[in-house]
Amino acid sequence: MIVCLCHRVSDRDIQVAVKGGTTSFDALQDDLRVGSACGCCQDSARSVFDEACAGVCACAGREPGRAAAALTH
Ligand code: FES
Repeated sequence: MIVCLCHRVSDRDIQVAVKGGTTSFDALQDDLRVGSACGCCQDSARSVFDEACAGVCACAGREPGRAAAALTH
């Protein structure tokens, strides 16, 4: 499923980025540019990112959009 139409970023792209070590939503935006144009996809992209992080670390996702911080412990 395409999450970001502006940059053609899919949910799978986000999942692959998280599995590859992307540890914050800001880093995800730097890498994939998701949500960096019109911004319409930000909520959806954050949800997909948080879900992907939760799959990597069970304690992630307590703070939406900040899941990556939980990955450091
Ligand atoms: S749809 Fe993602 S920035 Fe526009």
